[in-house]
Amino acid sequence: MYYFFTMANLRVPGPTPLLPKVLSSLSQQMISHRGKGYEKVHAEVVSGLQYFYQTKNPIYLLTASGTAGLETAVVNFFSPGDTVVFFTCGEFGNRWSEIARSFKLNVTQVKFDEGTRVRKEVVKKTLSGMKNVAGVFITHNETGTGVLNNIFEITPIVKAHPSKPLLLVDSVSALGGVNLPMDKLGVDVLVSASQKAWMASPGMAMVAVSPYAWEKHQKSTMPRYYFDLTKYEKFAQKNQTPATPAVSVLYSLQSALELMKKEGREKVFKRHIDLRDYFRGEVKKLGLKLVVDDKDASPTVTSIYPPQGVDEKVWRDLLKSKYNQILAGGMGGLKGKIVRVAHMGSAVKSDLEQVLVAFRKSLKEL
Ligand SMILES: Cc1ncc(COP(=O)(O)O)c(C=O)c1O
Repeated sequence: MYYFFTMANLRVPGPTPLLPKVLSSLSQQMISHRGKGYEKVHAEVVSGLQYFYQTKNPIYLLTASGTAGLETAVVNFFSPGDTVVFFTCGEFGNRWSEIARSFKLNVTQVKFDEGTRVRKEVVKKTLSGMKNVAGVFITHNETGTGVLNNIFEITPIVKAHPSKPLLLVDSVSALGGVNLPMDKLGVDVLVSASQKAWMASPGMAMVAVSPYAWEKHQKSTMPRYYFDLTKYEKFAQKNQTPATPAVSVLYSLQSALELMKKEGREKVFKRHIDLRDYFRGEVKKLGLKLVVDDKDASPTVTSIYPPQGVDEKVWRDLLKSKYNQILAGGMGGLKGKIVRVAHMGSAVKSDLEQVLVAFRKSLKEL
């Protein structure tokens, strides 16, 4: 059994491990980002992303992390003073609302307890009492707890609001591995990032924009420069970016998307659901308590309480030093209280079997 533990098992919710083919794509020589070679890579990446976003909308490639994608969504479609609503259930929702406050949007934030999902009844009630709502923001997969929000049931409520707000979704830690059909649902702005379920290296934020959001963009007076999508749109016409892109990250994304397409979109989604169900089932058998109910559970990350009397940090340190399992701790109100295990991107059952064997052994020792 110990053969498992000879190599590090990186199970943090991004960056995720790279498959050998993706890893070797990173060793390609640099090319001019104003040449035909680059344009081909760019076009292939955008079309691969569109397949997984299930959209015909343009997807802009920003050399930056996921947080920059969130900022891009805040600064491109609104003007200072606009009223926007955030439905949040954890640290990444909090972060997005902080960005909006920094840019002087008039923010209403409706917070749900960490570990529970945003409830549609509350969305309905909140919006029905508001006028002139310019945007509604929601985190698809709250990575801080491992909650998957149900965008399918929330979208129609937002779309039915008389002020016709934009719906902006952070799917940094789900898209690629979880079904979220942008066009079918009518999501207006959809943000993701390369290092999560896309099983590519960190450094690229990807932002898809609907025609309705583009209309709003043209009226927005928010200050911006690097993240100004007008510039990205102009260069996207040539399959380029306004400034030098992280070419190596695009190589890795191109290669990962090729593998994901080969596996098949539905199969990738099913693999993530199967991994979640398998892992949660086995964790329960060990007598450990899960943070999130089955019905709200994320297909890409699972949070677990340590057994009573066991310090989370001590447990995680032991899992790392003796068993080579690299897991994440809690964030915000759950810092020091939970352990998070990611099963996104290239993850397969044996990755989680390792974690489970390490759990069993380490708990005996503790
Ligand atoms: C849901 C969500 N949003 C935003 C981010 C921020 O992404 P980054 O760390 O790439 O800036 C993360 C990162 O974990 C995330 O999980």
